[in-house]
Amino acid sequence: MRTWRIASRSSLGLRLCGAVVTVCEREAGLVLVGLQALPPQQELPVRDDLQHVALSGHQELEALERLLAPRRDLAGERVLVTSGPTREPIDPVRYISNRSSGKMGQAVATAALRRGAEVILISGPTTLTPPAGAVYVPVQTAEDMREAALQHLERATIVIKAAAVADYRVKQPSATKIKSRKDEGLTLDLAPNPDILKELAARKGRAFLVGFAAETNDVRANAAAKLRAKGVDLLVANDVSVKGIGFDAEDNQVTLLDRWGGAIDLPKMSKLEVADAILDRVVGLRAADRSPASNRAAH
Ligand code: C5P
Repeated sequence: MRTWRIASRSSLGLRLCGAVVTVCEREAGLVLVGLQALPPQQELPVRDDLQHVALSGHQELEALERLLAPRRDLAGERVLVTSGPTREPIDPVRYISNRSSGKMGQAVATAALRRGAEVILISGPTTLTPPAGAVYVPVQTAEDMREAALQHLERATIVIKAAAVADYRVKQPSATKIKSRKDEGLTLDLAPNPDILKELAARKGRAFLVGFAAETNDVRANAAAKLRAKGVDLLVANDVSVKGIGFDAEDNQVTLLDRWGGAIDLPKMSKLEVADAILDRVVGLRAADRSPASNRAAH
């Protein structure tokens, strides 16, 4: 738990100069615990337990600004987020899955909720607690996720597919535990899973569709190809071969490619900050696309 007195002449300082802010740090970023506003000119007695000008850190200031003066620019939007891995059964005790933690998708859901959106979070199995306020739809397999996504698609205005969907499933999972026969080996017959993102792109109507691309090499080129192949409006590409970002990490570093040809390399940031940057881009691209002055041609 940290307590700050706002003493800087930031945009916050103008309104909240002298206020005492108590925050604690959680997985999803700073969480506001208490805010004691004071009249602007009132002198605060010096107290040892307050960090007076701890707002010098730019990121901390931004995080505080988000807490104290949250943007409500997604009020009225319905954001559908898919998150986490899928789990494809081999038999009743074994499955095929991947290393997705669900942190990026949950950060998107959290950021969208804070900005005033209604959020439906469809998530494969994770150890995370879903953000309060989201409609939470837990799923196991890609087929479950597809069904849930299609069911909620019609009412969504923004769809963000952060899930790491397993590309294959076992054609015929065994109803009973497969016995270990060490001298024989085991061959699994795999079938491709449906590409949910592609299907959503074909049926999305006016919804704005965001896909993710986790790559280990030639990130830009692979992501640009995926943007076209999947028919999404915005693709969030990240290099999961780099330690400290991507799978199961707290931070992420992504490139945002859009179907109008824009490409933005973002610096390494917390997943919550990446989520806000993605939502900023969605809001910006939609506004530009709807403006009559826009002469951008979609591919
Ligand atoms: O093809 P790849 O898995 O790299 O594509 C990543 C994007 O496509 C993600 O947004 C992911 O949620 C989505 N996807 C999907 N259905 C699949 C595979 C991926 O929706 N079967």
